[in-house]
Amino acid sequence: MAQEVRGVIAPGKNEPVRVETVVVPDPGPGEAVVKIQACGVCHTDLHYKQGGINDDFPFLLGHEAAGIVESVGDGVTDVAPGDFVILNWRAVCGQCRACLRGRPWYCFNTHNAKQRMTLTDGTELSPALGIGAFAEKTLVAAGQCTKVDPAVSPAVAGLLGCGVMAGIGAAINTGNVGRGDSVAVIGCGGVGDAAIAGSRLAGAAKIIAVDIDDRKLTTAREIGATHTVNSRETDPVEAIRELTGGFGADVVIEAVGRPETYQQAFYARDLAGTVVLVGVPTPDMKLDLPLIDVFGRGGALKSSWYGDCLPSRDFPMLIDLHLQGRLDLGAFVSETIALDEVEAAFERMHHGDVLRSVVVL
Ligand SMILES: NC(=O)c1ccc[n+]([C@@H]2O[C@H](COP(=O)([O-])OP(=O)(O)OC[C@H]3O[C@@H](n4cnc5c(N)ncnc54)[C@H](O)[C@@H]3O)[C@@H](O)[C@H]2O)c1
Ligand SMILES: [Zn+2]
Ligand SMILES: [Zn+2]
Repeated sequence: MAQEVRGVIAPGKNEPVRVETVVVPDPGPGEAVVKIQACGVCHTDLHYKQGGINDDFPFLLGHEAAGIVESVGDGVTDVAPGDFVILNWRAVCGQCRACLRGRPWYCFNTHNAKQRMTLTDGTELSPALGIGAFAEKTLVAAGQCTKVDPAVSPAVAGLLGCGVMAGIGAAINTGNVGRGDSVAVIGCGGVGDAAIAGSRLAGAAKIIAVDIDDRKLTTAREIGATHTVNSRETDPVEAIRELTGGFGADVVIEAVGRPETYQQAFYARDLAGTVVLVGVPTPDMKLDLPLIDVFGRGGALKSSWYGDCLPSRDFPMLIDLHLQGRLDLGAFVSETIALDEVEAAFERMHHGDVLRSVVVL
């Protein structure tokens, strides 16, 4: 039997979001219905509302979520009703050319639930990132559910579903930060701060946080930055070189998504160093770099999709480290809010007042 729940809908471009009744079908083959306990508010939800992702309104927003599996469809064996899970937006297929080569974190054929959730009048909803978790319950592909230790608070666990995993993974998976490395992180929002936390976890000796907002630099220091640079006042490339013996950082992580900050990252790394682009640019942005510098400086220029994470490998590991007190994921939760407060949370996010507002159900 399909069931009716409350969910946050973005009805049309730039229209305020509102809570409406959502019809959630019973799970079909390979699907699961999850009772949502917490869901973080991410910039991507705001992009959906603004029409910046696509025009498939109405959207059911929310995608950084954790909850309890309520029911599963035929053929689902990896999760069962009662399991505490974090939702991911890259359920790997196991069959594409990346999966078959043993690199499932690059899976080129990730999937979502086949059935659609609807409004009560039958209008089909587009769930944000194939999740749609600003809702009491949501329907996903079972592969989007990753079991973790239920001892963790759901508000904290859900954050691994998107931005925090993207940042930690940019450092530990894509950037391959190791013991003793110097790291610079440009842009210290939720993603950049998570890259700082990941670098600390990996044993980086020096972690330089760069932002244009002093409030962000204060938080970055609390999360693990050893040095901070306000790039509105100081040339960040010069400052990072000065802090690294005149050479530049071993790994520079760009967590803004703009050509000028990418260029800073490019020149702020040591010879043979690594640049990781985790910030998402818009389609109109272009980069102009002397090719001789690309060649002459050597090293690796990489981008990081979702922190190159493999949910089944990374989510339980990071939750365990958090529960052991070795990774403070709680620092990313600025406030907890109710379902009908998402619009106000977008406003606070826009003004840079919060790292993450988390809807708790
Ligand atoms: N690659 C992925 O899989 C993935 C996943 C989630 C988010 N992202 C992207 O990561 C980026 C950051 O996300 P967020 O949630 O942390 O956003 P955010 O808005 O919270 O943080 C951005 C930070 O960059 C700072 N900033 C802005 N312009 C700057 C500049 N010129 N120089 C230095 N700092 C500057 C801001 O002050 C802010 O602290 C976004 O582009 C987002 O789309 C990528
Ligand atoms: Zn695949
Ligand atoms: Zn997100």
